Amino acid sequence: MSYHSFGDYTTIVVFGASGDLAKKKTFPALFGLFREGHLPKTIQIIGYARSKLEDDDFKDRISKNFKGATEETKKEFLSLVSYISDPYDTDEGYIKLRKACESYEEKHGVKNPHRLFYLALPPSVFTVVCKQLKKEVYAGETRIIVEKPFGHDLESARALQRDLAPLFTEEELYRIDHYLGKEMVKNLLVLRFGNTMFSGIWNKSNIASIQISFKEAFGTEGRGGYFDSIGIVRDVMQNHLLQVLTLLTMDRPVSFDPEAVRDEKVKILKAIEPIDTEDLLLGQYTKSEDGTKPGYLDDDTVKPDSKCVTYAALGLSISNERWDGVPIVLRAGKALDESKVEIRIQFKPVAKGMFKEIQRNELVIRIQPNEAIYLKINSKIPGISTETSLTELDLTYSTRYSKDFWIPEAYEALIRDCYLGNHSNFVRDDELDESWKLFTPLLKHIESSENDIPLVKYAYGSKGPDHLRKYLEKHNYVFD
Ligand code: NDP
Ligand code: BG6
Repeated sequence: MSYHSFGDYTTIVVFGASGDLAKKKTFPALFGLFREGHLPKTIQIIGYARSKLEDDDFKDRISKNFKGATEETKKEFLSLVSYISDPYDTDEGYIKLRKACESYEEKHGVKNPHRLFYLALPPSVFTVVCKQLKKEVYAGETRIIVEKPFGHDLESARALQRDLAPLFTEEELYRIDHYLGKEMVKNLLVLRFGNTMFSGIWNKSNIASIQISFKEAFGTEGRGGYFDSIGIVRDVMQNHLLQVLTLLTMDRPVSFDPEAVRDEKVKILKAIEPIDTEDLLLGQYTKSEDGTKPGYLDDDTVKPDSKCVTYAALGLSISNERWDGVPIVLRAGKALDESKVEIRIQFKPVAKGMFKEIQRNELVIRIQPNEAIYLKINSKIPGISTETSLTELDLTYSTRYSKDFWIPEAYEALIRDCYLGNHSNFVRDDELDESWKLFTPLLKHIESSENDIPLVKYAYGSKGPDHLRKYLEKHNYVFD
């Protein structure tokens, strides 16, 4: 592998340390890695934000979501943590930060500093923070984790890229898409390329249709103001679901080397046809049927006549030897009947001949909750019957693997990868560019005030728009 790990004396700085992501994900992930012995006990961690907080208040705040912690481990971890409160756009805080790094490095005789910066910040301050970092704190080897969103469309993503490129190399930047840190998403390469039976049939000759679906059982309550200018397509499809699709459909990389993997991802992205804006199913949720859950427009923080899309299904096609003609559906929705993210691959039917009725094989890869891979196969009903029935070869992680098996949370897995210097599960600049090229025309179409896009209403807690079943059938998905 062409990457190398940061050492025992590394400084990790979390910008936006007073924020929601830092509290819910970043610090709990750092703690989880520490607890499991995947971060040295000698590192230092500095939280940086504008909010005036005493060290102890800050520590109380970030430790609220620590899991599986004995008081001792928690105390040990928190002893490595300190907090700097200063603005993002003036020098003084960065000078304090540099001094904190230098005195720690000096104390431990570090000649070549290792510094990891995590930007848990709104994108409006990414550039200013990066400029200040470069000016005041840059030394030795630097790694910078940047949170989504990377832009709002192709133009703004390129502008952000133009701002960051003169400051940090692609080697130094780690763009997070936390779906790439999920266990089952990481398993896709092994599942596909480590099993002849799958690699051999992974093509248009055998596969009838592909679906990647994202369902959340809660709405945008409390986040409506943020979500209203984003919409479900930008929130989870352009990034998370597209990432899953590239790993699912790309060709075999020559190795697990990060660049080899990302080269293949870019190739497949380039082969995806422009999205057909006539082939969409868009929706927005209303109150639940029993009236207990609010509709999207009931949120005071959204515009009363908002056309924001909270449910979308869209058809994709890939024009290459492997996938030509295979219908692919990405679908995602908020405020549905359940929370679940899964991939469904339906195989072509066998020749009828000897069978009057025979169902298709289907491979389901459940990303969450409760990771599972199951393959629906036809089997003879046991006993004297000659009938067939659909049954499952089932690899459900919770029954196959013991509970003691540590499956890292996505953020734990990704921070660890960054620490190790492994870029495989981070988004490269050209990948990002291709994903925006694909989605920007669609977003423009949806958001253009001239287009009166039909937005199907669906009730909070339902399966989504009524037409969904027909939409999936149109894309060659057959219901059991
Ligand atoms: P917050 O809104 O909580 O912002 C983080 C911190 O940044 C705040 O505590 C605040 O700290 C500072 N900040 C907020 N707004 C501004 C501003 N306009 N100018 C300067 N500083 C500001 O964001 P999150 O923690 O929710 O998210 C951080 C990043 O992570 C974002 O890019 C978001 O899109 C992304 N993300 C968040 C997720 C989540 O679950 N929250 C999930 C996935 C991605 P202070 O004022 O103390 O400096
Ligand atoms: C985030 C979106 O990127 O992903 C959220 O902004 C969404 O709206 C979340 O809820 C889903 O992540 P997960 O890991 O809970 O599936």
